[in-house]
Amino acid sequence: MSMSVSIESPRVKPAPRRGVNWEKWGWLYMRASGVLLVVLIFGHLFVNLYAGEGVSALDFGFVAGKWASPFWQWYDFALLWLALIHGSNGMRTIINDYTTVPIGGTRLRRLFTPHYIFKTLLVGSTIVLLVLGTLVIFTFDPCPSGAPADLLPTFCAARS
Ligand code: HEM
Repeated sequence: MSMSVSIESPRVKPAPRRGVNWEKWGWLYMRASGVLLVVLIFGHLFVNLYAGEGVSALDFGFVAGKWASPFWQWYDFALLWLALIHGSNGMRTIINDYTTVPIGGTRLRRLFTPHYIFKTLLVGSTIVLLVLGTLVIFTFDPCPSGAPADLLPTFCAARS
């Protein structure tokens, strides 16, 4: 005796007939950023963990030294934005897969459903991390003027 199992067809939102197909560009972004991330992540791991004295050289001074150079500032900026938007867009896919888009009810009622609560938290945390990360990379100062000398790292001019 044979049994047949029917699987419900996935609820896929059709591509818009006109205007920008955001789902397509999001899909392409994952592939393009993935390729760049392989290069940037392996470069990051090689320089930080293997080159020179390797992992034992990692400390506050190591980071200060890297961020004194515009090259590493822009390298880390690219890594931050590419990886965070990649991870966030990937999480958006997972939220779409595991929650249902609410139908009916008022706008406010729909907003307080898992689908939109998760997406609001995702967008919020992504923006906060992009802004904070970018500020850290470009405003980092290992020897802030006016700081108590005993709190400064030994390589700062104010210590000697
Ligand atoms: C080594 C570099 C990376 C490559 C080559 C890469 C590649 C990819 C690709 C091609 C996809 C789409 C898969 C699909 O559509 O089925 C994807 C999904 C995803 N990636 Fe990455 N990725 C990399 C690094 C990262 C990093 C650093 C993060 C976290 C910040 C991340 C988080 C995610 C997430 C959350 C998804 C969605 C998974 C899903 O749909 O189930 N990836 N990645």
